[in-house]
Amino acid sequence: MTQIKKRTTASTLLADKQNHRKHVWLTAYDTPSATLAELSGVDVILVGDSLGMVSLGFDSTIPVTLEHMIHHTAAVVRGRDKAWVVCDLPFGSYQQSPEQAFESAAKVLQQTGCDAVKIEGGKHMAATIAFLSERGIAVVAHIGLTPQSVKKFGGFKKQGGNPEAAQVILNDAQAVSNAGAVAVVLECIPDDLAKEITQSITIPTVGIGAGKDCDAQILVWHDLLGLSEKNPPFAPAYSNLRDTITQTIGQWADDVRSGK
Ligand code: KIV
Repeated sequence: MTQIKKRTTASTLLADKQNHRKHVWLTAYDTPSATLAELSGVDVILVGDSLGMVSLGFDSTIPVTLEHMIHHTAAVVRGRDKAWVVCDLPFGSYQQSPEQAFESAAKVLQQTGCDAVKIEGGKHMAATIAFLSERGIAVVAHIGLTPQSVKKFGGFKKQGGNPEAAQVILNDAQAVSNAGAVAVVLECIPDDLAKEITQSITIPTVGIGAGKDCDAQILVWHDLLGLSEKNPPFAPAYSNLRDTITQTIGQWADDVRSGK
């Protein structure tokens, strides 16, 4: 298992792209999961707004608030040592204007101690990314399948499946890179498109359902560990903690009931 020796930073991520060193990103939502991710050699912890779906029982990320994100990101920061911590700005907290995005990002950075914020959107968010970046905020962009737009997409569907749609995503990647994003998440797009994007921009690409050629990979904690009831088709479970946990609790419950 690789241990991370130095604190990951935005410059480490950029330099590592040039040196072809792949990064490992994982979501986490509380102090113990951040500590375990850290001990396992994860470079970057994302406090994703997937929080809403995997931990808070919502059926999309839309109901997640800035207060939810601040509460959980502060807990993650308390559990990390060297990992870079990124907080998702939730739906409605940044889309209105660059100024609104700055206000939300400043609140998150001041109240949690995290290192960067992530926002969804490509070309149309480039001005906001530039606004934040020019004011010293590290921004991770997120394009392709952007879950906060699930109602517009009509479900969690693969994006960029025809040449026109692929070109839009390629343009989005170039726009967020030129605007000053530090990295870009590519979610659920064809592998060859992710490869082309990775080769054509200077910032690291972080793939989820985007093939093996991205500079980094990210998974959601619950999907990786087999805690989710059902994983997305592109998210492999490397363990089955759901069964382990129910068997463990069930064993204890049997012992209680039998007076043991
Ligand atoms: O919210 C989240 O966990 C994410 C990752 C899936 C990239 O945005």
